[in-house]
Amino acid sequence: MRVLLIGSGGREHALAVGLAADPSVEQLFAAPGNPGIAAVAELRDVQATDPAAVAALAVELAADLVVIGPEAPLVAGVADAVRAKGVACFGPSAAAAQLEGSKAFAKEVMTAAGVPTARAHACSTAEEVTAALTEFGAPYVVKNDGLAAGKGVVVTDSLTVAAQHASECGQVVIEEFLSGPEVSLFVVTDGTTAVPLMPAQDFKRVGDGDAGPNTGGMGAYAPLPWAPADLVDRVLAETVEPTLAEMRKRGVPFAGLLYVGLALTPAGPKVIEFNARFGDPETQVVLALLETPLAKLLHAAAAGTLADFPPLTWRDGSAVTVVIASHNYPGTPRTGDPIEGGEQPGVIHAGTARTADGTLVSAGGRVLSATATGADLAAARSAAYALVDSIKLEGSHHRTDIALAAVEGRITI
Ligand code: AMP
Ligand code: GLY
Repeated sequence: MRVLLIGSGGREHALAVGLAADPSVEQLFAAPGNPGIAAVAELRDVQATDPAAVAALAVELAADLVVIGPEAPLVAGVADAVRAKGVACFGPSAAAAQLEGSKAFAKEVMTAAGVPTARAHACSTAEEVTAALTEFGAPYVVKNDGLAAGKGVVVTDSLTVAAQHASECGQVVIEEFLSGPEVSLFVVTDGTTAVPLMPAQDFKRVGDGDAGPNTGGMGAYAPLPWAPADLVDRVLAETVEPTLAEMRKRGVPFAGLLYVGLALTPAGPKVIEFNARFGDPETQVVLALLETPLAKLLHAAAAGTLADFPPLTWRDGSAVTVVIASHNYPGTPRTGDPIEGGEQPGVIHAGTARTADGTLVSAGGRVLSATATGADLAAARSAAYALVDSIKLEGSHHRTDIALAAVEGRITI
């Protein structure tokens, strides 16, 4: 089949590698792509959030499948426009993508579906904010009610900082703090059948030991040796199935990738957030272990035939990815620094670009992620950090403790 992948980040590079490895893919196109994706796909230029432009490109390329990576095109209705042209598309409709696009909508759906999640209040005035912060107490959790690329959430013990973030956002959701290790569970769905991928763990804070501000994600690993054996079944039964049923009942079936961000609290797994797309950088590790042909799987979801799809198969071992970020990220990142060692196997590009003379340079906050597999988590971790050490980017920084607590058996629920 001919596949068109939309997006230009690390998640899309990982998806591109997976799609290109599927023998059923005759030709892989990506738009707009990045220098890493260019190694496995033919790049086309398109405004990813322009529904008409993406749909026209899909028709021009005679694509059999369009895979939409990021949330912004989904919320903008790109999947709707592609499907309206009769092209199979992996990605939810704009209406269904509101599960990510609006935290208030997601909470409403979860409440109606009886999904375990943090208690929350949507607030738009300073009075409502003060009342909600007082009700839940510290640590305070204040979320911008819109797409914020993983950076719209402040978790703080300071009432002043919490109130300040709320006033800067306008419309916010304030919620109860959930304690416990976090898990990202990706579910491929056609709206009815749900196929869970392997749970992974992401590291949201910029610094070692979870210090500093939230980022888009600084590293990830899978599988989770410490996770309860019934975790996936439980989340499917308590969260995924009821949510998909509630979306169908509302006439907005969710078909695509449902990303369930969970906290494994003492009272069981509770939803921190839904996203309407693969997570970044968890996709890098999950797809490194997936053996099932990726394009076939995503096509079955797009075509509504997941019920007939064979069970997924996985490689043995573990995968770890470590993000290399630009100087000053997650503040305004410095860009344009040359990258050495950026073209090795396992190096996934996110914020990279090529200059006129062909030099690979940094072009964003999260520049690359070094991904490696190994017979066990310790081996995968060593291999990922060896790869990090072989990459040179001036002023860059990375966490040194990705997957360390899991390797040392320090994670408990
Ligand atoms: P979100 O964008 O909703 O995923 O939030 C980003 C990060 O903030 C999450 O990965 C958590 O680390 C943290 N967070 C969000 N909501 C909560 C909560 N209710 N309790 C504890 N931590 C939270
Ligand atoms: N890894 C977090 C996210 O993709 O939102």
